[in-house]
Amino acid sequence: MSKKILVLGSGGREDAIAWKLSLSEKVSKIFVAPGNGGTASLNKCSNLDISLKKESFPKLVDFAKSENIDLTVVGPDDALADGIVDPFEDAGLKVFGPNSKAAEIEASKAFSKELMKKSNIPTAAYEVFSDYESACDYVKKQNKYPVVVKASGLALGKGVSICQTEKEAMDFIQKIFIDKIFGKAGNEVVIEEFLQGQEISIHAFCDGKSAMLFPTAQDHKAIYENDQGPNTGGMGTISPLPWLSSDELIDISQTIVLPILKAMADEGRVFKGLLYPGLIMTDEGPKVLEFNARFGDPETQSYMRLLDSDLFDILEACADSRLEEINLEWSQEAAATVILASDGYPTAYEKGFEITGVNDAEEIEGVTVFHAGTKLNDDGILVTNGGRVLAVSAIAENLETAIEKAYLAADKIDFKGKYIRRDIGAKALRLTSV
Ligand code: AMP
Ligand code: GLY
Repeated sequence: MSKKILVLGSGGREDAIAWKLSLSEKVSKIFVAPGNGGTASLNKCSNLDISLKKESFPKLVDFAKSENIDLTVVGPDDALADGIVDPFEDAGLKVFGPNSKAAEIEASKAFSKELMKKSNIPTAAYEVFSDYESACDYVKKQNKYPVVVKASGLALGKGVSICQTEKEAMDFIQKIFIDKIFGKAGNEVVIEEFLQGQEISIHAFCDGKSAMLFPTAQDHKAIYENDQGPNTGGMGTISPLPWLSSDELIDISQTIVLPILKAMADEGRVFKGLLYPGLIMTDEGPKVLEFNARFGDPETQSYMRLLDSDLFDILEACADSRLEEINLEWSQEAAATVILASDGYPTAYEKGFEITGVNDAEEIEGVTVFHAGTKLNDDGILVTNGGRVLAVSAIAENLETAIEKAYLAADKIDFKGKYIRRDIGAKALRLTSV
């Protein structure tokens, strides 16, 4: 077999997916659109200079047809929300990812909260508002802080504010409804109770009929140590969580993953692709913060290191609705991924600085370096090209060693303005030792 794949996206997640697909004997060629400096030089891989904007969808479909692509894998949430899967399906092309109706589970928090309420899926108590005045009236009645204010649509991870005071909540509501800082993603606002507990990431492969869960993972979203500072796309992940039992994971599958998939199907929104619920483990059990309709970044970088099965087989089986044929196998090791970011991220940062030391880092046993905001410049030199630049991922027999190796490798890499959050996995180790 010699399968040709098209991976859509340009982040660390897509580099990790392309890397894992490149290890499959069945895969002969991988195109990544638009890709990054890592996918440009990965074995079997070439970058394709087509954007993922809606107006480029026909071009991508034409490419997949003319190159006889066997499977297209979609990474980013905005492309899914824009309905990128639909024209591929309409053209009879095989694609991994939910169609636009199913992707709404991530693209509209108002929709996903209503569906959770209707299906008795545990989540934070909430109300949805479509105008400034009623949202403000509701906030004025609150007497328990913090409260969480969210733009309903996709807002690059910036649409959520944990408000400590009434004034903070009112200001954020004003920014969304009056100043329109998130555009139409802010046409509706969700205001919900603040949940206390450990935040975890769940991933499940879904084929529209059944689901298979990954091991658990934990992202570290705040930019600074001890979860301080603004939220980012994610500064590092670990997997699996040593303190979470397999019984708890089964419970999450039965009370959250399977019921939401059934509810989606009942609504005529059959979900095929990767479902990623973000949860808080509260004293009352797991509660859903949000459902994502795609692989997490940087969860995927840790997960691809632990996945023993052939990724191509799994993704194709999901697209074909025959996931039950797959024997999903995971390594018994632990993984840690540390992000190397540009100074100033998640707000303003500079680009174009030379990156050195990637090969030295990869010489450490168990380490793989995934690229996110990188590119090869006109002279073929690897330079920074984004906020999250690289994801250094290590696997080892236990979490402590995986974390040590990831930092050892991360410190071998250099570029101007390199920033690393230094406590990835520390919380999980603390909880495990109690
Ligand atoms: P979301 O996009 O809804 O997942 O929110 C982004 C981040 O804000 C989450 O990853 C949490 O860290 C935090 N967050 C969102 N909603 C809540 C909540 N109800 N309680 C506590 N933290 C929250
Ligand atoms: N790990 C955060 C995200 O992918 O949304």
